[in-house]
Amino acid sequence: MNPAPNLILVGPMGAGKTSIGRRMAERFGLEFGDVDQAVIERCGATIATIFEHVGEAGFREREKAALAQLLDGQGRLVSTGGGAVLDCDNRRLMQRHGFVVYLRVGVDSQLKRLGRDRARPLLQRGDREQVLRDLAAIREPLYAEVADLMLDTDGLSPGTATSTLAHLLSIHWQRSECAA
Ligand code: S3P
Repeated sequence: MNPAPNLILVGPMGAGKTSIGRRMAERFGLEFGDVDQAVIERCGATIATIFEHVGEAGFREREKAALAQLLDGQGRLVSTGGGAVLDCDNRRLMQRHGFVVYLRVGVDSQLKRLGRDRARPLLQRGDREQVLRDLAAIREPLYAEVADLMLDTDGLSPGTATSTLAHLLSIHWQRSECAA
């Protein structure tokens, strides 16, 4: 949505949504909110423990509630988890409440960035490369559907990606004060 009162980052695991999000929030004077972190704080448990106890479906319910709460306001930068776009209500909510940026990353870069990851339950099963390719096949069209702007982060450090994105946003994002 444009003009929009919030910025929202979507994209796959390892795209840099949290690290770039924090930096962008500082640059634009926005309050930073991270959906995964909000779920962890609300549940008092790690994402891995939540998956273990209530499964992926239970995690998605909690993710949906946390996203709605973070988007119930303005002047925020909200980083979402890689699977938040799977839910059609989430996609509509994002489009109504913010200017949505898709941080793209290819599977090769994801493998490098997430090589030692033990915190993401979806990566702890089977062939990691195949898992990432299967997730991308389903999700890439959804990221593209919801996004107002796309930045390819392949080969970019968080600092360079932040500067590039800040420049793009200064051109494309019209900041508004009121939620729709
Ligand atoms: C997930 C991505 C994770 C986290 C959870 C599920 C996904 O967030 O929400 O492990 O389905 O892709 P990041 O994209 O921040 O790693």
